Amino acid sequence: MRVYLDHNATTPVRPEVADAMTRVLREVHGNPSSVHEEGAVARAEIDRARERVATLLGFAPAEIVFTAGATEANNTVLLSLVTARPDGRRHVVATAVEHPSVEAALELLEAAGHPVTRVPVGRDGRVPAADVADALRDDTALVSVIWANNETGVIQPVAEIAALARARGAWLHSDATQAVGKHPIDTREIDLLSCSAHKFGGPKGVGALAVRESIPFAPFVHGGPQERRRRGGTENTAGIAGFGVACELATSELPERVAHAAALRDQLWDGIAAKIPGAVRNGDPDHVLASTLNVTFRDTPGEIVLQALDLEGVAASAGAACASGSITPSHVLVAMGFTPEEARGTLRLSVGHGNDAAQIERVLAVLPDLVARARAAGGVS
Ligand SMILES: Cc1ncc(COP(=O)(O)O)c(C=O)c1O
Repeated sequence: MRVYLDHNATTPVRPEVADAMTRVLREVHGNPSSVHEEGAVARAEIDRARERVATLLGFAPAEIVFTAGATEANNTVLLSLVTARPDGRRHVVATAVEHPSVEAALELLEAAGHPVTRVPVGRDGRVPAADVADALRDDTALVSVIWANNETGVIQPVAEIAALARARGAWLHSDATQAVGKHPIDTREIDLLSCSAHKFGGPKGVGALAVRESIPFAPFVHGGPQERRRRGGTENTAGIAGFGVACELATSELPERVAHAAALRDQLWDGIAAKIPGAVRNGDPDHVLASTLNVTFRDTPGEIVLQALDLEGVAASAGAACASGSITPSHVLVAMGFTPEEARGTLRLSVGHGNDAAQIERVLAVLPDLVARARAAGGVS
């Protein structure tokens, strides 16, 4: 039996979600835009899912635009809504620890002449709200803040920043992909929010952009009247239905999910701290997802630990990528001030539905030896 500790990468589809998707795939074949009965049946599936997604996100159903995931939602905000902002504001503020689907779009914006300010984070991975306030200008169009970081799990003061942005006439967008379904979110001050079904028991390739009615919309995907002309293309009906069920489960299970994840994460960290010398927990421990443990093993080639864990049946992920023999530290850890060596020794262990205390014990039974052997194998001076 394998132990899957990579829930921030993606999660297993919940059986209730798979059942709903299978039913739609088998029984609902109409095009949701068709006016006949088959079309109406498909449309009803999407409408029901929209209600469920809206409830979890704290938006109105009409404010939900289904997308092919959070990458598309983030691209839509930065490359379409911002560039079409009617009042001509062009400046964008973001944190230095955004997901690549935001960061890559920021680079395209810069290339197109938009001024972009990236606000640094501290060693704890948090951006101070006051520093974001200092970055705001009279022509700031948008502030984009990742709600919870995918690598560290660190949670940003999004609501506080949203109030500051709003006071200056800027829209607040949050990439909440890692928070939705795993952490309680208060979205009352949020104008735009991206999320993705596969991070909390839904299918891959479907997500949503939540957009307040007050925000002028400009489509990113053109060519059809779907989603009230906000996103062209025939809807992924089965995926959207599965997304809806994942949201309904999250709405009812959230408190127990958080408690379950926190207990396992704490068990994991307590064991590591007791058994492995030179282990450091990263990120602000008071503002972090219950599911995420980001840890650095000093003087350790993390990629060797990861491979050995995989052979022992444990899936986790790294803080640095190894390409052609050289190590590229993650931009998130670099922004937090990590050296390349520290980043190399950093692992992300993320727990979720399906994990239990016995699995964590199994990981703790093998990990100290694997770290010791990787250290002895060297490669880090
Ligand atoms: C914070 C964050 N934003 C965006 C994405 C992209 O989501 P998707 O896989 O739905 O495109 C991810 C997933 O890796 C993520 O963790």
